[in-house]
Amino acid sequence: MQEFDTPFWSWYIIILTVASIVGTAIFLKSQMTRRLAPGEKAQEMEHKWDGDLVELNNPLPSWWVNLFWITMIFSVVYLVLYPGLGSFKGILGWTSFGEYDAEIQEAKAKYDPVFNQFMGQPVEQVAASGEAREMGQRLFYTYCAQCHGTDAAGATGFPNLVDKDWLYGGDAESIKASIANGRMGVMPALGAALGDEGTKQVANYVLSLSGANHDAGMAAAGKAHFDTNCAACHGADAKGMAAMGAPNLTDKIWLYGGSEKAIAESITKGRNGVMPAQLQALGEAKVHLLTSYVYGLGGGMAKVEQQPAPVEATAPEDAAAAEAAPAQASPANAK
Ligand code: HEC
Ligand code: HEC
Repeated sequence: MQEFDTPFWSWYIIILTVASIVGTAIFLKSQMTRRLAPGEKAQEMEHKWDGDLVELNNPLPSWWVNLFWITMIFSVVYLVLYPGLGSFKGILGWTSFGEYDAEIQEAKAKYDPVFNQFMGQPVEQVAASGEAREMGQRLFYTYCAQCHGTDAAGATGFPNLVDKDWLYGGDAESIKASIANGRMGVMPALGAALGDEGTKQVANYVLSLSGANHDAGMAAAGKAHFDTNCAACHGADAKGMAAMGAPNLTDKIWLYGGSEKAIAESITKGRNGVMPAQLQALGEAKVHLLTSYVYGLGGGMAKVEQQPAPVEATAPEDAAAAEAAPAQASPANAK
């Protein structure tokens, strides 16, 4: 009842409740005054219905009256012990929140050790345990299947977690980061920048990268657009970049579809897939189990250092920079 910002409603409820109980008691008492003297017969009242249906003025049967008393006493005892009378909390201090918390604590005490037992083990090892896989699968069905599918094979806009094609990396650490902190894919809408013709050209170039049917002339013209507008995220080789979650465009695996229409739509309108963060809701132990489950689905791989794609090196006039790039890049790769 803390929701009431003035004590008025609390008193309103208290007064109405007490008045109803007292009022009922007084009324009941007033109906108990008549008793039949020994041998006295109940009299017929003057009403008559349907010709022959009459009413007798018998006193109320005592078992019936007593039921009323018991109900009233029960309500008084209840309102003293439990919350119900305005903002009075009841002397037992019971709350539905408290009961919920107690149930959660009980469940935690029971299940936490079951989940925690895997915390100390590396993902690769947990992934190999049948028991962990079963638990992970149950968690996956509950928290992930609505987007990624019960078989984790994904759908349009929701990545397949079973194959070795990863947006953000398929090593244990990257998978865990995807699950714990969530991900947000940022593919900007480039329709305005490229225009209709430019979009068609670059879409045909993208089609050509995976050997799909395309218009060769358009694709050739599209390459220049790609190098200036797309390579920074997708890589000069278009093989994607895990740091940005930019997909590989050469592998025939499509998140949003590989038809010319779907590709053109990705380019003109942009794409913004959102993977919701799970750590806060599920806690470390369940995230660890889910990571191991996903890792064990077939796509898990050892950590690879991503080569930053040599974007600058693609400008042909900048030959000096191109030569310098590998030398500059190697210390950076070592981190
Ligand atoms: C509301 C839908 C939704 C739910 C629920 C969801 N995901 Fe995702 N998940 C996505 C989307 C969308 C992406 C891709 C994000 C992007 O496009 O950048 C993604 C990406 C991922 C990735 C990265 C994939 C890659 O290729 O790098 C992993 C791993 C993942 N999800 C695991 C899970 C797990 C485990 C759960 C359950 C705890 C889960 N997801 C629940 C929508 C969801
Ligand atoms: C700022 C970085 C960035 C730039 C620039 C960019 N992309 Fe993307 N692109 C992404 C990301 C990230 C995704 C994945 C979006 C998601 O997960 O929802 C994506 C998705 C796509 C897709 C969908 C792939 C699939 O599997 O369905 C296509 C096609 C694509 N980009 C083509 C291009 C082209 C062509 C250009 C240049 C005209 C371009 N992108 C520019 C980051 C970028």
